[in-house]
Amino acid sequence: MQRITVKTAPIPGQKPGTSGLRKKTAVFMRSPFLENYVQATFDGIGGIEGQTLVVGGDGRYFNDQAIAIILRMAAANGAATCIVGQGGVLSTPAASHLIRKRGADGGLILSASHNPGGPDADFGLKYNGPNGGPATESVTEKIYARTQDISEYRIADADAPDIGQIGTHALGPMRVEVIDPVSDYADLMESLFDFDAIRALLRSGFRLRFDAMHAVTGPYASEILENRLGAAAGSVVNATPSPDFGGGHPDPNPIWARDLMDTMYGPDAPDFGAASDGDGDRNMIVGRGCYVSPSDSLAVLADLAHLAPGYARGLKGVARSMPTSGAVDRVAQAKGIACYETPTGWKFFGNLLDAGMASLCGEESAGTGSDHVREKDGLWAVLLWLNILAIKNTSVAQLMQAHWAHYGRNYYSRHDYEEVDAEAANALIRDLTTALPGLAGQRFGALEVAQADEFRYDDPVDGSTARSQGIRVFFTNGARVVFRLSGTGTAGATLRVYLERLETVPDALAEDPQTALADVIAAADAIAGITARTGRAQPDVIT
Ligand code: G1P
Ligand code: ZN
Repeated sequence: MQRITVKTAPIPGQKPGTSGLRKKTAVFMRSPFLENYVQATFDGIGGIEGQTLVVGGDGRYFNDQAIAIILRMAAANGAATCIVGQGGVLSTPAASHLIRKRGADGGLILSASHNPGGPDADFGLKYNGPNGGPATESVTEKIYARTQDISEYRIADADAPDIGQIGTHALGPMRVEVIDPVSDYADLMESLFDFDAIRALLRSGFRLRFDAMHAVTGPYASEILENRLGAAAGSVVNATPSPDFGGGHPDPNPIWARDLMDTMYGPDAPDFGAASDGDGDRNMIVGRGCYVSPSDSLAVLADLAHLAPGYARGLKGVARSMPTSGAVDRVAQAKGIACYETPTGWKFFGNLLDAGMASLCGEESAGTGSDHVREKDGLWAVLLWLNILAIKNTSVAQLMQAHWAHYGRNYYSRHDYEEVDAEAANALIRDLTTALPGLAGQRFGALEVAQADEFRYDDPVDGSTARSQGIRVFFTNGARVVFRLSGTGTAGATLRVYLERLETVPDALAEDPQTALADVIAAADAIAGITARTGRAQPDVIT
């Protein structure tokens, strides 16, 4: 094998966002876009000489070709071993687990998560560190800096081995270990949950439907839910991963998982429905006629995780991203455990998990996870729910009613305005930031502003500070609205508006969230001038 050094020049636009670098597939495919970013990653982390890396992706279009390039570059940069999922496939949580289990130095995960895949859709790449979690801000900044002064990349002149076969191959002096992507992860799940109790629940006639959305969790869910737990054959639907996710949008929410919602709200609905996203780290939970918002799901899991063997000793603490509802805070308070509020993005949970300060984390965007890995984990959340339902012997709807009756209900919704003009979106946030000091005391319809600020996070573990992490407006009745711009989009800007109000009156707990939040929705528009500035009368996606 020859190590070839290829001259290159910086390519603009390689700044990692909320979760690695995401671009249109065609952009990633235009050489040397990928090569530059991979070399900048290797350089940014201080080189990979002698290292062991885990490499895998969600199987989307260009996954296999990108992996071949990454393997050739890893070999030329002196890596000792690359551990690769068969066929180049690894769910994000499975990759995180493998890094930890094998004591690897890090990993490269190829995914644009819930964004659609295909030649005209999206692609992404992110680096995870030795703890199995997404690179921290300080690391992504070094990678970004390197993309701006890169002058060459290194690549092997030899072909990458066939990663379709399990076994050990050589690429020059580098080992390429092709492994079964599912088994280690399935074993981990079996060690955390009461599989006997879930098996008994499923034998008792409890029916479930898991929608893999033509994405990476298909093989994982089939093995765990059907093979190991005995769910009826066909319980896992859309289980064969496809490079363009069946032409769909692999985002597990009521909009994109419409089929599942229709089934769960239709006649003869199963007892439990769930879905996961492109790379398997998100989850959606829906009972018969009862959708569970991710913020509520986090709160329920915090309340009842101890029913699963892996969490029987209780939680050390919990953490949620700032825009996530305060439902979990109320559980933490009742249990006397700490609750941390972090910026959006899983990378901010890593330090808290590593330090043993939190063992359960979640985001309103359908991400929930624990200290078993350093990523959010879709199937893990599904199994924890099943474990809880098996022990409590109750339905999802009953469980939610009991939860709200005890803790109150944080009515919650997120309104997304997608692909709006970037200038208009930036101006909206800029003007809102300028207006912040004068907002307190102002009335917007029925609501009065108590306080407004820009969220900033001081990491209690490493002392780092993250500024400008979203605008928060608190009202005197306890309601809240948050405005921020997405950091994962690939076209224009996406404005996210997060709306929340706590209700504790017993007979007001069963309203439609959009109705319950009407005042907050109206105030949000009045405060930010959303319609006037974006030209949109309605959000594109309401979750
Ligand atoms: C979105 C979600 C965020 C999540 C991220 C990666 O980021 O809002 O919670 O961590 O995807 O899955 P955003 O597009 O809002 O920056
Ligand atoms: Zn994802």
